[in-house]
Amino acid sequence: MARKVIIDCDPGIDDAVALCLALYEPRFEVLAITATGGNVSPQQASRNAHVILEQIDPPRYPRLGEASLHHLPRTDAKQFHGHDGLGNSGFRVSDLHHLHPSEKLICDTVRAAPDEVTIITLGPLTNVAAAFQRDPELASLVDRIIISGGTVTASGNVNPAAEFNMFNDPESARAVFRSRTTKTLVPLDVTQQLTLTLDFLNHLPKRGTSVGEFLGKIIPFFFRAYRQKGQESIHLHDVVTLFAALHPELFQTTEMAGDVETSGDLTTGATVFDRRLTPVWRPNMEVATEIDVSAVTDCLIRGLAEVG
Ligand code: BDR
Ligand code: CA
Repeated sequence: MARKVIIDCDPGIDDAVALCLALYEPRFEVLAITATGGNVSPQQASRNAHVILEQIDPPRYPRLGEASLHHLPRTDAKQFHGHDGLGNSGFRVSDLHHLHPSEKLICDTVRAAPDEVTIITLGPLTNVAAAFQRDPELASLVDRIIISGGTVTASGNVNPAAEFNMFNDPESARAVFRSRTTKTLVPLDVTQQLTLTLDFLNHLPKRGTSVGEFLGKIIPFFFRAYRQKGQESIHLHDVVTLFAALHPELFQTTEMAGDVETSGDLTTGATVFDRRLTPVWRPNMEVATEIDVSAVTDCLIRGLAEVG
């Protein structure tokens, strides 16, 4: 039976690739895509989730949740993803009508299938924290949350201490970390091990297919953006997180006790783990610590070929 999932995201080019793979993946039943501000503004994130669905036209349409305008991200990542978050490709989209707020859609979707839904978060944890606040029992009704973000020993990517998704809403991240849900964290230490060089462009689905057309427009921008930062290869962080859900056997994990710093001139958004010889904090999540990079790369290439 296909695994029921909600994908909470801030698209974003790597989010978009993850969505393409997830929406064509027969082992997943994507019940909802819930947008949140992060890489781009909340409005743009909602729009982009809609654009992606229209562009790739998946076999089954999930419900779409609108990002909250109440929580504005502390910073964006437009220098990597473009002003529109999708490589400045100028996608048009039909008007958005009657979308539910993302947090409400999360609540309704989990309530409709208690203990069966996995939430994969690819952006700041704003929506999940808001859903848990709205419905305090919800945390114990989610099967698992798989979270893209944080760092264990790697340095941050927004600043020396913090990873982008955590930095953007550390209060929400802390609330989710401290919640009673079963959690898997896929931190930068692991996601940045997958590096893709220009040759990756040859593995995208063929132009002429909906996903091939879409990815063919956005991925070259990502390479250019990384090159401007001095790097010839790109990272698809959120795709690695998706594979942690789809192919857990390709990852090693350790039970750890983690929290998020919510204040501090230099450390807001830093994830902190009790790695003392004799830890005092109680383990509250599984953390991915190792990845079989070549197997994950093969899965990515195979996945894209199947989507095509
Ligand atoms: C995270 O930051 C965002 O820019 C990416 O989409 C990913 O979710 C990696 O730190
Ligand atoms: Ca993201």
